[in-house]
Amino acid sequence: MKKRYLVTAALPYANGPLHIGHLAGAYLPADIYVRYLRLMGKDVVFVCGSDEHGAAITVRARKEGVTPREIVDKYHTSIRDTFEKIGIAFDIYHRTSEPLHHETSQDFFRKLLQNGQFEEKESDQYYDEVAGQFLADRYIIGTCPVCANTDAYGDQCEKCGSTLSPTQLINPRSTLSGAAPVMRPTTHWYLKLDEHEAWLREWINTGQADGQQLHDPATWKNHVVGQCNSWLDQGLQPRAMTRDLDWGVDVPGEIPHAQGKKLYVWLDAPIGYISATKQWASDHHTNWEPYWKDKETALIHFIGKDNIVFHCLIFPAILKAHGGFILPVNVPANQFLNLEGNKLSTSKNWAVWVHEYVAEMPGREDDLRYNMIKNMPEQRDSEFTWKGFQESTNTELVGNLAGFVHRVLVLMHKNYTGVVPAIDANREFKSGWNAEQVGTFDDELHLLHLKLEEMGREIERFNFRDALRILMEISSAGNALLQFNEPWKTIKDDPELVKVVLKLALQYVAVLSVALRPFLPFAAQRLRDQLNLQPLNDDRDLLDIHNELAEGNPVIRANHALNPAEHLFTRIPDEVIAEQIAKLQATAQANQPAVEASEPAPAAHPPVQDEIQYDDFAKLDIRTGTILEASRVEKADKLLKLTVDLGFEKRTIVSGIALHYQPEEIIGRQVVVLANLAPRKMRGIESQGMILMAEDAEGRLSFVGPQEGWPNGWGVK
Ligand code: 2FM
Ligand code: ZN
Repeated sequence: MKKRYLVTAALPYANGPLHIGHLAGAYLPADIYVRYLRLMGKDVVFVCGSDEHGAAITVRARKEGVTPREIVDKYHTSIRDTFEKIGIAFDIYHRTSEPLHHETSQDFFRKLLQNGQFEEKESDQYYDEVAGQFLADRYIIGTCPVCANTDAYGDQCEKCGSTLSPTQLINPRSTLSGAAPVMRPTTHWYLKLDEHEAWLREWINTGQADGQQLHDPATWKNHVVGQCNSWLDQGLQPRAMTRDLDWGVDVPGEIPHAQGKKLYVWLDAPIGYISATKQWASDHHTNWEPYWKDKETALIHFIGKDNIVFHCLIFPAILKAHGGFILPVNVPANQFLNLEGNKLSTSKNWAVWVHEYVAEMPGREDDLRYNMIKNMPEQRDSEFTWKGFQESTNTELVGNLAGFVHRVLVLMHKNYTGVVPAIDANREFKSGWNAEQVGTFDDELHLLHLKLEEMGREIERFNFRDALRILMEISSAGNALLQFNEPWKTIKDDPELVKVVLKLALQYVAVLSVALRPFLPFAAQRLRDQLNLQPLNDDRDLLDIHNELAEGNPVIRANHALNPAEHLFTRIPDEVIAEQIAKLQATAQANQPAVEASEPAPAAHPPVQDEIQYDDFAKLDIRTGTILEASRVEKADKLLKLTVDLGFEKRTIVSGIALHYQPEEIIGRQVVVLANLAPRKMRGIESQGMILMAEDAEGRLSFVGPQEGWPNGWGVK
């Protein structure tokens, strides 16, 4: 374990609002990780800020008919406020337009120049004679050599997605004046990346540099290492670190030929992490240097996959070229999040905008965080759907988590006026982890501790989906503990048993009130209030709990008085989801002409879920069956109640297929059934299994089944 941590999250361009893809890509994972480290008592600084330079800003300014300064001021403020509202807890949210940042980047430039890291080269670039300036790639449009789109940009064709360079465009024209640009020689500083190729390759793949083991390559994500190696395999070339631009950090004026030259994003944005740390340190009267220079610091960059090469090859090369800086111990980049079957797109407005979400769904910040974490694109692209969002809130947050907490607090108040009772520590009862197992309060506290440790290990490995799943297992086990021991029934005959069970359940709740914080900080706080516990101060609260549990001590002790029970989460009604879907559909409609002009995009298949082992699959007991009876369920227009013959027994199964099939048309139909799914009550009917259905892009359902005449009750493998 390192002594201190410096965690960075990619600086967003201050040229537009944040959408859920940004959150899922870099900011939520970084926030979870940092909040966890703080709770474990680590010295950690979490920096971010607005990237306020480059063509991204000036293009937007031209579009809106305002100055770049007005654009960055507007979006910096709005992005910063949105982060705060959704609970991303940076230690500092800085800006690259600050003089401190300009000085820091310029110092880097000077040092690299002094260290012989640059090659000054003249090359021909497009120049607009009417506007009197060199053209950034984004300022040149022309015909795409790949698909003949007449409005392709100098760096990319948005129609066919090809990456281009300005000289590949046919009939190029300047977006500033409309004139055909001419080639003019210009001088730039090229970082000799080719000279860094060998050590970068070794460092990425083995974790070693300068004969030292700097990181464990096994902890790096495969897709991150893979992308780096594919770049390295093509051979690194010198890259220009400057541009002819009018908005950005100036190449230091004392350097010959500096006039009109600005630092390129590579020598600007990531150095923003350093200037942000400097500002933070100055605000807190401390020294920034150990965070960037001491080998006992773990530097971790959270980014989206579009920034992998930048953070794993270019920036490390810059840090090494400068000298004296540490290298990142990990760059846990995420893949992309899609929205309702299509790529998120700012230009097509195909997005869920975070500032709109927090305004339209006040108090539901954690509902969104939960769904994003659950679907985080950690290893491969993933998907956000409004229906999935509703489902995760209603089933998991309301049904599992809030239901558990509420039951415990209500029973505590009902039985003990909200004051934690003393217990008989030798009393045995049924474990929440396994109905067959009995244990004492101490045994169960120990199991809870093991679970908590398991969660922590997953966070430390950047497996946030798994960590959240483990946390929710604590809540599920708490529910099972109540279910198995039925304190509401036993209270009359065995009050001592009830005391032990409820006091243990309360320990689960208290542990959750801390362990939830990295994921759902708002709910964690609400829970602290209900438990009448101190607000968390982000300093070793979780470590304290580990220590208590390790010594066999409860987290909430006898005589502690609880506050009244409240619902931690509330259900999201269908109308709210319908409204959001309608809003997206309106956007899709408005985009129609553009969509029609291009190839109509086939609906994206939902991404393949995380890999499982055969053992996971083998747990599913899938059987063939035949529907014997089918009827509608009262007041539930989507549900049918089915009787299914499994050969060895008949099952009642409630299935959500009523909008797709009439009861009478499916009697006699052969189906496949998940036979070992825990029974679940739906509209008062116990459903004893699930019928497996195929679903297409439109949400149509189709039965899947064996060939005709197949016997019932046999396995599907
Ligand atoms: O790609 C981007 O969004 C840029 N603003 C750079 C982000 S990474 C950086 F901060 F180093
Ligand atoms: Zn094209």
